[in-house]
Amino acid sequence: MRTQVGIVGAGPAGLTLARLLEVAGIESVVIENRDRDYVEHRIRAGVLEQGTVELLREAGVGARMDREGIVHHGIHLQFEGERHHVPLSELADGRSIMIYGQTEVVKDLIAARLESGLPLLFEVDDVTVHDLQTELPRIRFTHDGAAQELECDVIAGCDGFHGVCRPSIPSGILRTFEREYPFGWLGILAQVAPSIDELVYAHNDRGFALLSLRSPELSRYYVQCRPDEDLAEWPDERIWEELQLRTGLAGWTLHEGPILEKGVTGMRSFVAEPMQHGRLFLAGDAAHIVPPTGAKGLNLAVSDVRILADALIDWYRSGTTAGLDGYSNACLRRVWRAEHFSWWMTSMLHKLGEDPFDLQLQLSQLRYVTSSQAAARSLAENYVGLTTL
Ligand code: FAD
Ligand code: DHB
Repeated sequence: MRTQVGIVGAGPAGLTLARLLEVAGIESVVIENRDRDYVEHRIRAGVLEQGTVELLREAGVGARMDREGIVHHGIHLQFEGERHHVPLSELADGRSIMIYGQTEVVKDLIAARLESGLPLLFEVDDVTVHDLQTELPRIRFTHDGAAQELECDVIAGCDGFHGVCRPSIPSGILRTFEREYPFGWLGILAQVAPSIDELVYAHNDRGFALLSLRSPELSRYYVQCRPDEDLAEWPDERIWEELQLRTGLAGWTLHEGPILEKGVTGMRSFVAEPMQHGRLFLAGDAAHIVPPTGAKGLNLAVSDVRILADALIDWYRSGTTAGLDGYSNACLRRVWRAEHFSWWMTSMLHKLGEDPFDLQLQLSQLRYVTSSQAAARSLAENYVGLTTL
């Protein structure tokens, strides 16, 4: 088999890249090791930056998002028993965010790919990448029991943090930066109308909590927990009790309902540099991870593949390699900004331990961002997605 761009991984990065290339008339083959149902139902992020929304629209996959997604113009920060509104759009030149689940983005992209009749292979096994520093890199894999080899002009490693592409780069070439956090999030999807109009990030003595949503009927809530938390110790009643304790306010009720899904996510910051080796280009979680507190992971994946698609389009149209050569540096500027923002939000909002000095610093910072226009504006422009990078 021969294609122009071989894409490993059908998450948001791989599928968005395939769509952008399709629109530009560039061929690709996407291979994914899980089945379609699994990929479409993996519950993860829920907040799209305006830039992500615009890109999905431009790529012709925004119709359902525009019908079903919910535009938000602010968030709430809660601490010391009070909820403070941060008017994101007012502070960030009218820009806003869209609440639309990653599962839905992925479903829309898969549907568009299949409707175009373009290759997207699920349940492939034994994926390996070869000849990365030649002009004809190859992907080998098995599909339906048969061994396959795919010759490409370039390979896009969009296979997430645990994929095979990043580890295929010989040792000594990548520099990695990492921080693990001593906590995780226990997340639930509940069949109950959200009790909030906009997201609530709550700092509390018992630990952080986040109130989010997916639709007028579905709520998405999180509580800080241990990174290796055993879900068996969290019957539904305990989760609701903890959410009530961490987010409760006089005169406001958190409505409870059946819990449809629950899971624990560990938290880490990670960056691998450079994001390119020869003809292999890493994008999304394959190259970097952020803790989820700033809702940046999915948005960064989309931002990487926008830069990669533009560079590939330039290369195919005019032979210039400037975009491809500058790919890693262009991505990393935004990546490190998001790394900082996510680390900052995480550090400001989570229970870090018992140190009273840490606690006072957090409260001081929270009072500052909810009372100073300058500080609030900084949070807002990062949250909705910087346009100046
Ligand atoms: P992925 O979504 O990981 O996609 C990679 C794809 O590659 C997957 O489909 C995988 O099956 C496939 N793959 C892996 N190995 C191979 C292989 N060898 N061959 C072929 N295919 C392969 N972000 C937020 O902003 N908010 C959140 O609440 C949030 N929650 C998260 C919860 C969890 C459990 C995780 C893991 C991440 C979460 N994130 C969250 C981050 C966000 O979901 C990711 O940043 C986003 O999915 C990145 O997209 P991606 O396409 O780069 O990687
Ligand atoms: C959601 C996830 C996040 O990480 C975040 O910061 C806000 C919302 C969500 O899943 O809805």
